[in-house]
Amino acid sequence: MITIDGPAGAGKSTVARLLAERLGYTLVPTGAMYRALALSVMRSGTAAREGPELQAHLAPLSVSVKAGRVHLDGEDVTDVVRSQEVARVTSEITTLGSVRAKVTPLQRQLAAEGGVVLEGRDTGTVVCPDAEVKFYLTATLEARARRRRAELSAVGAMAPLDAITTELRARDTQDETRELAPLRKAPGAIELDTSDLTADQVVQQMAAVVERYRGDAGSRPDVPPASNRLYTVLKILAVGTMRTLFRLESTGRENIPATGPVLLVANHSSLLDPPVIGGAAGRQLTFLAKAELFEIPGFGGLIRRLNARPIRREGVDPGALRTAMRALADGQAVLIFPEGTRGDEGVLRPAKAGAGMLAVLSGAPVVPVYVKGSGHAWPRGRRVPRPRKVTVTFGEPLRFDGERGGDRKQRYEIASREMMKAIARLRDGTTGGACRPQPESYAGRSK
Ligand code: DC
Repeated sequence: MITIDGPAGAGKSTVARLLAERLGYTLVPTGAMYRALALSVMRSGTAAREGPELQAHLAPLSVSVKAGRVHLDGEDVTDVVRSQEVARVTSEITTLGSVRAKVTPLQRQLAAEGGVVLEGRDTGTVVCPDAEVKFYLTATLEARARRRRAELSAVGAMAPLDAITTELRARDTQDETRELAPLRKAPGAIELDTSDLTADQVVQQMAAVVERYRGDAGSRPDVPPASNRLYTVLKILAVGTMRTLFRLESTGRENIPATGPVLLVANHSSLLDPPVIGGAAGRQLTFLAKAELFEIPGFGGLIRRLNARPIRREGVDPGALRTAMRALADGQAVLIFPEGTRGDEGVLRPAKAGAGMLAVLSGAPVVPVYVKGSGHAWPRGRRVPRPRKVTVTFGEPLRFDGERGGDRKQRYEIASREMMKAIARLRDGTTGGACRPQPESYAGRSK
C-alpha cells in the first residue's frame, strides 16, 4: 500500500495516477470520492450540515472506484466533480462525521487487497496507517494556484489567479484545522516539495523510494507469493473439470524446473489457455493479464488472488516488464503470451518485442508451450466453451543469455523469433527445444 497526502494543488492526483500506472497498481483517489458525495448533496438540495437529513441522504448512496474513475450510483462523475463549486461543498462536508464514516471504510476496502496507491488528505494517517510507503507532497501556494488554474482551464473553467489563491488558502485552513482527520504529515511519511518539479520528476523520485523500500524490506507487494492456498484449491477443481470437459492432457511437464525463475511462453487462441496451462504445469504460475479484466467486479479480485498481474498496454509495457522481471527475480514461474491477443487455432503469429526483451533481460530459462485444441474448444467470439480435446505440450527450456552479439534490440528480436519457432516445433511435432535455425513457419496450419 502506498499513500500520498498533501494540500490541494500539490500535484497529488497526477503523480498518484502516474505512479499507479507505472507500478501496475490500483489508484484510489479519495478526494474524488468525497467530491462525488458533495455532488450528490448539491443535486438533491440536502443541507451540507450534520443531521438526520444528511445521514438519510448518504445511506443509500453508492460510491465506487473503477480504473481510477469515480462512480456515483453507477454514473461516472470523475470529470463533473472537478468544478470549483463542487470543491467548495466538498471542503464543507468533509468536516462532517457521517460523511467520513461513509467513505473511510470504502477506502479501506479498496486498499485491503494491496497493490494500491491512495491519494488524499488522511490516507496515511487515518485510512491506511499501516501502509508500507507514505508520501507527503507539498508546494508553495503560488505554485499550487498556478496548477489549479491550469487544471480548471483544461476542463473549460476559467478563474482569476487571485480567486484561486484565496480559495486554496481557505481550503488549506479547513483541511488542516478540522477536528476529524485533519491534513497532517503521517509519521514516517516522506515529504516532497513539488514546486519546481515536473510530474515525471516527482514520480521518478517516488518510484525510487518504493524500489528502495522493496530492496530494504525484501517485501514485494506487486509480486504474488510462490504458493497460495486459493490457487491450490481452485487448481484441483479446475483440472478435474477440464479433464472431463476437454479431456485435458499434457506432456513435457518435466521441462519446467521445479524451483527458481522460469518464463513460460505459449501460443494464444483462447481464454482457456491460462487455466489449461496453469492446470497442466506442476508448479504455481504468475500470469500477466489485460488490465481491463481487473476492473470486472469480483473477477478482478479473484484473478489477482490467483497470481494474475495487470498489463496496461500492448507491446512493450514498462510496468508489465518490471512486474514480470520482479516475479522472475523472486524465483517464480511467469506465463506470458508473446503474440499478445488471441488468434486462431493452430496459427502462430510473430511475438511482440517485449517477450524477447523479458527473456534476454531476465536471463531466465524459457519454456516454450504449445496448447492444441483450445481455439476449437473456446474460440474468440464464442460465448461459452464446447467440449473438444485440449493438449498442452511443454518443450525443453531455451536460454537467451545475450551472448549472441549484435545490438540489444536485435537480441530481443532474435529471442522473440526463436521462442515462436520453438512453439512452432511443438505444434508440428518436430523435437528439440534448442535454438537451432528453423525455417519461419508462423503461418502454419489452421487445423
Ligand atoms: O484532493 P481533492 O481536491 O479532490 O479533495 C477534495 C476535498 O476533499 C478537499 O476539500 C479535501 C477533502 N479530502 C479529505 O478531506 N480527505 C481526503 N482523504 C481527501 C480529500
